[in-house]
Amino acid sequence: MSAEKVTTSEKTAIGIAHSKLILIGEHAVVHGQPAIAIPFPLIGVETVIERVPGTVKMDSSFYHGPLYLAPEALQGIVKCVEASLEYLEIPCKDLLIRINSSIPPGKGLGSSASVAISVIRSLFDFADRECTDEELLELANVAETYAHGAPSGLDTLTITSRSPVWYKKENPIDYIDLGEDFHFIVADSGRVGDTRTSVESVAKLLKSAPKRIQRKMDRIGELTHQAKHALERASKHFLGQLLNEAQKELESLGVSDAGLNKLIYFARKEGALGAKLTGGGNGGCIIALAQNEVHSKLLAEKLKKYGATAVWPFVLKKH
Ligand code: MEV
Repeated sequence: MSAEKVTTSEKTAIGIAHSKLILIGEHAVVHGQPAIAIPFPLIGVETVIERVPGTVKMDSSFYHGPLYLAPEALQGIVKCVEASLEYLEIPCKDLLIRINSSIPPGKGLGSSASVAISVIRSLFDFADRECTDEELLELANVAETYAHGAPSGLDTLTITSRSPVWYKKENPIDYIDLGEDFHFIVADSGRVGDTRTSVESVAKLLKSAPKRIQRKMDRIGELTHQAKHALERASKHFLGQLLNEAQKELESLGVSDAGLNKLIYFARKEGALGAKLTGGGNGGCIIALAQNEVHSKLLAEKLKKYGATAVWPFVLKKH
């Protein structure tokens, strides 16, 4: 579509994006190890764009509603909007961009990447253009670089995927075929975490004690390889053990906190096969592997009683 047509358009454009979870491999993935991440469609973002002549500038005034983003993330979204407008050759700046999100930010659930992807999709819709995955990822990574400093790219990739993602930086990604359905529960510790700060603290540790921390990264990488096999071979109990092992390593990297540790402890006590933090950590959510569907619902109730501020039991389905 020509730029001329865009400026005269009165259409309303929409872009949606779901959330994401990291099953295993967070932090180590920033330093070259693989990670496994899961699309999480129970929560997401919808962006609606309207042309409102002369009323809204392309700055943070597009930022409406109850959604909260850290200042860096917000700045990233503004940059991402600017880059998308330039890429799509949309000269019009009289846009009202409304973002509605059900993803709690700062909880390791990919809020900033989901907002970016939903905004980009809505801008492509506004321009009547189909969006390729490559275009989406490149533009979304503009926002993620502001939000996370040095993102691995895993969040944006998983949000654009429908299957569990096996991801290694600078390597082609792969999708995992599950051996059976897996039932999980995500529980929010109530504390907001800052992925950027967590990623930077791990990078500092790696710099100060390269050999010792590299061994931890390698160990997380090994656990992630084993987790891929466990998912493919339907080895639920083994997967649970691997999640617990990964949590130990994350704790030793200093990215878990008392709130997360408490929920993890109670999840295991109530029969979870494994439990760990998910995402950047130091606040945010845990992911626990339940025994089956009934157990995942029971676990959700229990974790609420133990102080989780939100719980989401969900199934990762074998296709
Ligand atoms: C954040 O969801 C996951 C981290 O590994 C950072 C990243 O991959 O960019 C902590």
